[in-house]
Amino acid sequence: MDRKKILVTGGAGFIGGNFVQYMVNKYPQYDIYNLDVLTYAGDLTKHRNIEKKENYHFIKADIINREEIIPLFENEKFDYVAHFAAESHVDRSIKEPEIFVQTNVLGTQVLLDAVKQTGVTKFVHVSTDEVYGELDFDPTTFFTEDTPLQPNSPYSASKASSDFLVRAYHETYGLPVNITRCSNNYGPFHFPEKLIPLTISRVLNEEKVPVYGNGKNIRDWLHVLDHCAAIDLVLQEGVNGEVYNVGGHNERTNLEVVKTIISTLGKSEELIEFVTDRLGHDKRYAIDPTKLERLGWKPTYTFETGIAQTIQWYLDNKWWWEQIISGEYKNYFNKQYSLK
Ligand code: NAD
Ligand code: TYD
Repeated sequence: MDRKKILVTGGAGFIGGNFVQYMVNKYPQYDIYNLDVLTYAGDLTKHRNIEKKENYHFIKADIINREEIIPLFENEKFDYVAHFAAESHVDRSIKEPEIFVQTNVLGTQVLLDAVKQTGVTKFVHVSTDEVYGELDFDPTTFFTEDTPLQPNSPYSASKASSDFLVRAYHETYGLPVNITRCSNNYGPFHFPEKLIPLTISRVLNEEKVPVYGNGKNIRDWLHVLDHCAAIDLVLQEGVNGEVYNVGGHNERTNLEVVKTIISTLGKSEELIEFVTDRLGHDKRYAIDPTKLERLGWKPTYTFETGIAQTIQWYLDNKWWWEQIISGEYKNYFNKQYSLK
């Protein structure tokens, strides 16, 4: 059988990392290339169970570096690209917007140029529902693929800009692309700066959990493995040039999420600490996933089953998040790879 080459950018991060493991295990007949520069969010310890598999390959490279990326594409001739690499944390984007423009906009353009030069069967650009801006609290309103883009944070503005470039490279040069826009993910290997893993780790350590503003902002949560299945489907079946929203109708206020975690772990709500609100804090996100469902996708986790599985995973895998919080994970690359 033809051994396909699948490039995953940002495969040392949360969602890209789950996707790499999903693909390595599901498709032993394909070669999966994890390309990542290893920023603070890049962690290779999560792949210690797959790093010896024959179909897993790691490439340390920066998507902004054209001199490195274009020759790599020319040499390897990838069949598929799933592009996850990004700066992804809204709070960081409020403090330091520049790196978001560099990585998310310019980095995506370098990859598009590489794809244009060498040709691939499909380039899937993994974007976010945050590019649509915010909804109000009317529960009958949803983001569809036709909702105008109105990003509010430097993070979502940089993602929206990259979406426009991907669209333009399809319209102008005929590149075979899809854009996916997913709601908030959660699950194993989620970096503990984001709400759910931060809450779980803080509660387990009996530390205060900061809730921004009044805690009534709503996010639409999707288990990361359901997102991985969606990307796999779009890579293979997506109609070129189309956008697909990804979400499972799991809207919760932040306070509901935090209280669910606290009660599952049998701790006190006194751990909750209301803190100053995030600047430009989007009120509500909610996805209409009908178009992707028509392509054949449906989520397997409800929020209840997914959050229970995730909390259990954090209980069973303290080794992972404790070395993330301590910073020890940063030494893994040197220990395992550079000295070989
Ligand atoms: P993450 O921050 O956990 O991981 C990002 C990865 O990209 C890291 O491994 C990092 O080292 C790598 N990276 C950063 N800059 C790079 C560069 N210049 N070159 C190569 N690699 C680089 O992010 P995540 O939460 O896994 O999100 C992945 C993608 O999914 C992002 O594009 C994000 O916008 C999108 N997304 C995230 C969510 C969510 O809830 N987390 C929801 C929808 C969409
Ligand atoms: P986050 O996990 O940062 O994802 P995003 O900003 O991409 O939605 O935040 C999820 C929600 O939780 C968001 O409304 C901000 C809020 N939040 C808190 O209340 N406290 C926190 O410590 C964090 C990190 C987020």
